[in-house]
Amino acid sequence: MTSSVGMSAVLGACARPRDAAVREPKQDGGSGEGGEVTPGEDLMREHGILRRIMFLYDEAIRRLDGREEVPINVLLSAAGVVRRVIEDYHEKLEEDFLFPRFERAGKLTDLVAVLRRQHQAGRIVTGDVLTLARGPLGEQAGRLKLADRLRAFNRMYRPHAAREDTVLFPALRALVGGKAYAELGEQFEDKEHRVLGEGGFEKAVAEVAELEAALGIADLASFTPT
Ligand SMILES: [Fe+2]
Ligand SMILES: [Fe+2]
Repeated sequence: MTSSVGMSAVLGACARPRDAAVREPKQDGGSGEGGEVTPGEDLMREHGILRRIMFLYDEAIRRLDGREEVPINVLLSAAGVVRRVIEDYHEKLEEDFLFPRFERAGKLTDLVAVLRRQHQAGRIVTGDVLTLARGPLGEQAGRLKLADRLRAFNRMYRPHAAREDTVLFPALRALVGGKAYAELGEQFEDKEHRVLGEGGFEKAVAEVAELEAALGIADLASFTPT
């Protein structure tokens, strides 16, 4: 694993309940004004975690292709965040609270069908990543196979998340109305506490930051073109 001392220091600093000020019951019917975290914002910032994982995967792919060392524990931890936070939590929210509403209303049904299928495909790819990363990677063939699965994950999830951000989530509030939208925010919060525990989002962000540091891609400024 990555340095457990470093990890607990980071987690200790960040392991606080989600900012109570932004999670107070909605005062305005959930219009999004007044600083609350709306369901759309909640889902989109989980996509932010997914994007940071895909950036980690990009770096792992580069190293695997180039026969450079890849800290397998970092890759396993990254895939573990995908499984725990994205597949078992974020996608469950979409499957339980969003997709059925669109399906019942007969809205965006083709898109929802593809998104559902891609969740299933993503789980299979993550299973492959975990299996391959735990296996012997001395042979370049195994490394290239692993790189291929990581590439397949990123290839699917970049447009998947972008489509949800720009089409599905913006349509949600209009579909359910302000009151139900506000109630969804409360249901998401309850679910987050039950599935991920207190401060689940913040802990996941801290873990991803630690993994970025371990792969040497934590310095955002270093990616600014000169
Ligand atoms: Fe999704
Ligand atoms: Fe999503």
